[in-house]
Amino acid sequence: MIIEAIVTTTNENGSPNISPMGPFVEKSFESFELRPFLGSQTLENLRRRGEGVVHLVDDALLFVNALTHQWPELPPLQLAMVVSAPMLKEYLRAFEFKTKFFDESSNRISITCETVEQHVGRPPRGLCRGLNAVVEACILISRVDFLPREEIDGQLPSLQKIVEKTGGPRDREAMTLLMRHYSSLLVTGSPNRV
Ligand SMILES: Cc1cc2nc3c(=O)[nH]c(=O)nc-3n(C[C@H](O)[C@H](O)[C@H](O)COP(=O)(O)O)c2cc1C
Repeated sequence: MIIEAIVTTTNENGSPNISPMGPFVEKSFESFELRPFLGSQTLENLRRRGEGVVHLVDDALLFVNALTHQWPELPPLQLAMVVSAPMLKEYLRAFEFKTKFFDESSNRISITCETVEQHVGRPPRGLCRGLNAVVEACILISRVDFLPREEIDGQLPSLQKIVEKTGGPRDREAMTLLMRHYSSLLVTGSPNRV
């Protein structure tokens, strides 16, 4: 099962890196697999210092800002308890992890990770289709470099409609920012940082 999450790691200059990633979890988060694409900052950080924190969150704006790496201001952060990495202050669950094994035999590198500390945060808000739609749209747009444009453009309108009908203000704001980001990618042709 893939759980869409936010991963925090430490950049070479000590600053925090906050990125959406979908860890593959078999039974529990005691161990899991991260699959960053070549070129991702998260991969570089984990190669240099094999530690980070996976957060389960239900905030659409966080997913969009982490994907675009554009932060009006960074979300509140704290130091993790066991690993040497930044950690979000607001989350539903958080898993501090250490990397155990890198399988680099394909473009989609597989990193086996072991959880070394777990945290329970605030209770989830509940299932909102608007949030799910924003996350789906984020994933589509993160693949702009290798998905056919028709596939992305074919799916975005229905996702936008779901956000309009069922989302809250943060979901709607997140979708607006995401669509602006998508338009700028199309204009500049600049690739996502995948
Ligand atoms: C919900 C979600 C899940 C994602 N999962 C992955 C993933 O598993 N591996 C990956 O390389 N990129 C994934 N992406 C795309 C990255 O978040 C995106 O390329 C990001 O810019 C990478 O940031 P980084 O360079 O700081 O690591 C995902 C994006 C979203 C929105």
